[in-house]
Amino acid sequence: MGSKEPIIGIDLGTTNSCAAIVDGEKDGVPQVKLIPYKGGDYTVPSIFAIDDKGNELIGYEAKRQWQLNPKNTIYGAKRLVGRSFRSDIVETMRKVVQYNVRPSEDNKEVVLDVGKKSLSLQDVSARILNKIRDVASNHLRIPVNRAVVTVPAYFSDRQRQSVKDAGKLIDLEVVRIINEPTAAALAYGVGKDLNKTVIIYDLGGGTFDVSVIEIRKQVFEVKSTGGDIFLGGIDFDNAMIHHILKEFRAKTGIDLSADPVAMQRIKDLAERTKIDLSSREEAPFNIPFITMTAQGQPLNIEMRFTRKLLEQLTLELVDRTLKIVARVLVDSGLSTKDIDEVMLVGGQTRMPIVQDRLTKFFGKPPSKGVHPDEAVAIGAALYAHSLQDDSNLKLQLLDVIPMGIGLEKAGGEMHVVFPRNSAIPNAKQLLGTTSADNQTELIMRIFQGDHTAVADNEQLGEFTFAGIRQAPSGQVQVEITFDVNIEGILTMYARDPATGKELKTTVRVTQT
Ligand SMILES: Nc1ncnc2c1ncn2[C@@H]1O[C@H](COP(=O)(O)OP(=O)(O)OP(=O)(O)O)[C@@H](O)[C@H]1O
Ligand SMILES: [Mg+2]
Repeated sequence: MGSKEPIIGIDLGTTNSCAAIVDGEKDGVPQVKLIPYKGGDYTVPSIFAIDDKGNELIGYEAKRQWQLNPKNTIYGAKRLVGRSFRSDIVETMRKVVQYNVRPSEDNKEVVLDVGKKSLSLQDVSARILNKIRDVASNHLRIPVNRAVVTVPAYFSDRQRQSVKDAGKLIDLEVVRIINEPTAAALAYGVGKDLNKTVIIYDLGGGTFDVSVIEIRKQVFEVKSTGGDIFLGGIDFDNAMIHHILKEFRAKTGIDLSADPVAMQRIKDLAERTKIDLSSREEAPFNIPFITMTAQGQPLNIEMRFTRKLLEQLTLELVDRTLKIVARVLVDSGLSTKDIDEVMLVGGQTRMPIVQDRLTKFFGKPPSKGVHPDEAVAIGAALYAHSLQDDSNLKLQLLDVIPMGIGLEKAGGEMHVVFPRNSAIPNAKQLLGTTSADNQTELIMRIFQGDHTAVADNEQLGEFTFAGIRQAPSGQVQVEITFDVNIEGILTMYARDPATGKELKTTVRVTQT
């Protein structure tokens, strides 16, 4: 592939996606351009749908029809990507979405039934990525086959891997995965000659991420990171929806939660009202003909929402983000006084109470140094540019893993190999040995997470190292290497230190 072929930056968001590219340098400073969609918007809804004629719709087209076609409209797919069907998160998600989430035949993966198709999460992510790629290709008038794609800092190894796999499905080479908050820091710091410690508070539609990042000229060093991939604007919407359903039930005795069309209309207006309440104190919440009484009388929802009520309903969510901020600060070894700037990223940070609480926490208001919707894509584009042969931008990214990685010890305890916030890339070796005479294989189960019991963490895979020299038990050593690359993805290999011979490594991804 020629070096002239562009690498674009893609922020594949839970609710909105955005893409950007560097278009040359001016006085040594890369010039970033956002890729516009039809109508001029720089973000596109991360929504996929199939209409009743079997047409696939992505972005605005999908969003426009979601009230009428809720069962075949997929949103929030990023929350499910890289998860096994049996995870709690999938279970929680199933209860709040109107589309059908079911297990694959082997009961491991998640399958979505959309229209007449059954799709995996990678399929859905791939279609959204493909749309972004097409728009970029058309806009730039050149084929786009390579991208830097961002993921939440708190994504696990498996979730990162799934994003790469989604790219493969459409022949889009994901040349590098980088973390969203790190990308936002790049958007802020590149070309500015800074010497600062910043905290990126990224509250998007689906995920919350926070990173403490030291910027020294073109070196971006993540000190610590944390987050919750199940905490975002969608949860603020759900808190409102929950309240609306309860009020309606109290008034009419009717439960709307089993009616997908009604639910989708409520969801749509809840989000819009939430956004309105960031700039006003009060807003009406009216939906005509939401359902009918048993006697065939149409019923409406007629309520008012105040900002105060919204804040009460979502207090717990904002508190959770601040607890994570506090932990990440402790992990970084810094105190609030050491933080030069607090940067807001993600649409949900426009909620005034989020900004108020951060102001109290840090003793100063957050800075407006980056655009909350565009910074991540801009940072991805800058990083993509730095990877191009013809670039003068030399960036150094020093990132960390968000959760520990380790192996299962006897008794189901986790033996941590890399604690959370370990710098990446990183490799560590472990010496193992055989426990039976003439044993030729060693099996190791690897997990990611910060719990002491492996059962509470996510299994990354069961690794088998085969071809061990036959010898009495304990007589032959096996040197196992854990290698976490710059993208936070683990590979493992093993060798016999006495002979130097590599062992055959196979991995089976089992589910937890
Ligand atoms: N003015 C506003 N006030 C409150 N919330 C808002 C406002 N504008 C947008 N939001 C919310 O921000 C969320 C979308 O944010 P964003 O586009 O940053 O998320 P994303 O990048 O798609 O998600 P993620 O980063 O979690 O994958 C939505 O839940 C939306 O309702
Ligand atoms: Mg985002």
